[in-house]
Amino acid sequence: MTSGYPGFETIRAAVGLAQRAPSVHNSQPWRWQLSNDELHLYADMSRHLTATDPQQRALLLSCGAVLHHVQVALCALGWSSAVERLPNPQVPEHLAVLRLAPRRSSEADIDMAAAMMRRRSDRRRFASVEVPEVYLKAAAQYGTRFGAAVRPVSPADHSALRTLIRRAARHHEDDVLYQIELAEWSGRRGTREGVPARNSTAIRTADELPGRAFNDPVLIDPDPAPDAATWLMISTPNDDRLAQLRAGESLSALLLAATDLGLATCIQTEPLGLPELRDEIRFSMCEGAYPQVMVRAGRTAQVAPLPETPRRKLDDIFAELPG
Ligand SMILES: Cc1cc2nc3c(=O)[nH]c(=O)nc-3n(C[C@H](O)[C@H](O)[C@H](O)COP(=O)(O)O)c2cc1C
Repeated sequence: MTSGYPGFETIRAAVGLAQRAPSVHNSQPWRWQLSNDELHLYADMSRHLTATDPQQRALLLSCGAVLHHVQVALCALGWSSAVERLPNPQVPEHLAVLRLAPRRSSEADIDMAAAMMRRRSDRRRFASVEVPEVYLKAAAQYGTRFGAAVRPVSPADHSALRTLIRRAARHHEDDVLYQIELAEWSGRRGTREGVPARNSTAIRTADELPGRAFNDPVLIDPDPAPDAATWLMISTPNDDRLAQLRAGESLSALLLAATDLGLATCIQTEPLGLPELRDEIRFSMCEGAYPQVMVRAGRTAQVAPLPETPRRKLDDIFAELPG
């Protein structure tokens, strides 16, 4: 058991590990500040993707994911965090303050931290193997912990969801600002942000539920069988910033739990960025709760691991303020 308060290097290490969190278009819209033994999370509004995410929902989900990742990293390093979310109504981009206390890290903490390093957004097809019931139960529990409902999209809803995904894709094809943003943030090579070309596959319109198209996809998916992923829907009873931040935390928790069980995952949000389509999903699939994000989960038939996506330098997102 560690005593006292973690030193600067420990917190820096935790923030460094948390950099592995997923974010919309790998925009990493966050920054951290350490001051007076408190770790502060801020949204970096200069990284808000205004055309892809006009309501800032994906930005808050991304920040929620990194908030959960840092808690997991701190746990593994022997520190628990008391989290105050949205601590300052006058400063909306101030998303959380973490106050730390020593704890004994468990094997499960280490497993979750290891999962952060292994997790990838896997856009390849998944084999037709059922996602285990034990995982679906764990995912639902993670949702409940953060105020969200997590449920598999029923096969009966697939056809309606397919129509909405296709409508979103058609809408975005004609949206010049969306396309400019997509070109800026995807098909990337040798950069520290954005979706790398090597991590995206060409969209397979024949698949029942196709994913979001990215520019210049070069990842080859040799599996000719149709995608058989299970889609999970994360929804919340409210739609305020707190609900979205916490939904991001539950998203992170269920992605890490999936990785720990050897499942592949990929987040999907394209139709949720369009209010009209989001409303249709809300009332037809979520019983009036607010859909926040969807996750494809399954098993990839491919053995080749995916390369990790790059991240911004730690010094660009983490600073210590003199006390
Ligand atoms: C809120 C949010 C929305 C996302 N939406 C999509 C999406 O619609 N399609 C997709 O393929 N990936 C989506 N992603 C995954 C990101 O592109 C991915 O996390 C990022 O490129 C970093 O790669 P990694 O997850 O492999 O570390 C989303 C991630 C977040 C957090």
